[in-house]
Amino acid sequence: MTDPPVGPPNEHDADAWQILSPLIVHGRYLPWTSGSMRPAGLVQVCNEVVHGDRTHILECGSGVSTVLLARLLRERERGVLTSLEHDLHWATLIQDQLHREDLDQIARVVHAPLQGSPEWYRLGEMPDEIDLLIVDGPPADKPGRGAARAPALARLGGNLVDGAVVFLDDIDRPGEQQIIKSWEASTDWRFELNLPAGVAIGQRQPGPLNP
Ligand SMILES: C[S@@+](CC[C@H](N)C(=O)[O-])C[C@H]1O[C@@H](n2cnc3c(N)ncnc32)[C@H](O)[C@@H]1O
Repeated sequence: MTDPPVGPPNEHDADAWQILSPLIVHGRYLPWTSGSMRPAGLVQVCNEVVHGDRTHILECGSGVSTVLLARLLRERERGVLTSLEHDLHWATLIQDQLHREDLDQIARVVHAPLQGSPEWYRLGEMPDEIDLLIVDGPPADKPGRGAARAPALARLGGNLVDGAVVFLDDIDRPGEQQIIKSWEASTDWRFELNLPAGVAIGQRQPGPLNP
């Protein structure tokens, strides 16, 4: 992995907004903010759902992404999504939105307060076959919180099926860049950076063909 340049939202987001419009225009109002995954990143995730036929999705950090992905899964008539959320307000808000759109058979938000050291989500019953993991939480934008998402791969790696894909958002930040370096140094996961979209996309490195 090389160090990416730091960059704000760009023209790719305007294009991505158009691409996402089938999931946005006919839905209900969603509370987008700069805390939401950027449209360009969301397009990469949606493309992976379609191209990779991803059906067992786990998201760390709920928000408008949860609702958009649930709308995509409904359109595709396949797949389920679980979203871990530490904040009760966001958990309730997004679960309520899913319910009002009749999406709660497809996606659910699990309220998982942060605990332990290093602090991470309290895990209850988890899907044991995840084929797409999206790491967009816990919040890591405050000083001293840059490593907040680092535990994700160790904590969930055992639930990731062969061929699973992991997305890490916000790779324009030093904390996320360091996380990718530490994951690559300590595991057989390797990541490609999609800098315009602000995401890193990882898969397990295939084992040697002739051990
Ligand atoms: C980076 S946000 C997750 C965003 C979510 N994956 C999305 O793309 O909509 C991390 C945490 O911030 C909170 N959050 C979610 N959406 C937010 C928003 N639009 N603005 C501010 N905070 C948000 C939630 O507690 C969430 O777990």
